[in-house]
Amino acid sequence: MSAMPTVITPEIHQYLNERFSCEDPFLKKSREEAEKVGIPPIHINQEQGKFLQFYLKSINAKYVLEVGSLAGYSAITMARAIQDGGKVVCLEINPRNADFIREQASQSGLSDKIEVHTGDAQKFIKEYKPDFKFDFVFIDADKGGYSKYMNYSLPLLRVGGVICADNALAFGKIITDDSAEEKKNVAAIRKFNEEFIAKEELFTTLVTMGDGMAMGIKIK
Ligand SMILES: C[S@@+](CC[C@H](N)C(=O)[O-])C[C@H]1O[C@@H](n2cnc3c(N)ncnc32)[C@H](O)[C@@H]1O
Repeated sequence: MSAMPTVITPEIHQYLNERFSCEDPFLKKSREEAEKVGIPPIHINQEQGKFLQFYLKSINAKYVLEVGSLAGYSAITMARAIQDGGKVVCLEINPRNADFIREQASQSGLSDKIEVHTGDAQKFIKEYKPDFKFDFVFIDADKGGYSKYMNYSLPLLRVGGVICADNALAFGKIITDDSAEEKKNVAAIRKFNEEFIAKEELFTTLVTMGDGMAMGIKIK
């Protein structure tokens, strides 16, 4: 055993992507179309996608809440891994993105599993009263909102369910000086991580894929 993790070189990363985390052809086409219409490529990577699918399948997840859906890459990824009759509830503030997601959901045959709500996620989650509990909450919207997304969605999550927050390594700047451009976002993620690990209701870890995913199981 080594105390330090194995460094994933670009070559090893390619090896992993070609074997363990192959990208679904529909998702590849979808992200290319998104880029063509000017939606920035700030979605999860294929390794994160495969991990999310692995995890959702392992808990036989039915209901997923996604905060920040962009062009639907992670939503389609997750919708492919949940049980029949389940759904991914997508919250997206940008109407153009929300329409793009609906179109992609339809083209992928997943309209029955992807429900898109256009508007501010904080307002939506605060007022949402579903007749079910979520198995999984994926937070990937504005970084300044992460703490509120966590606090507002916790009551909607079942005990044993998981909250997962992307970019927990703050674009690689979690422990280094921040550039002026990202300063506010890095500070927000640092604050969020501290709050997340201190939550008594959560048993937490950080998965170092992509830009890091903070994950917490609701234990009470
Ligand atoms: C990083 S992208 C999401 C990527 C997506 N989860 C994926 O991996 O395919 C962040 C998204 O959050 C959305 N967003 C930002 N602030 C929001 C808010 N207050 N409510 C809802 N969505 C928001 C942005 O419009 C953007 O599309």
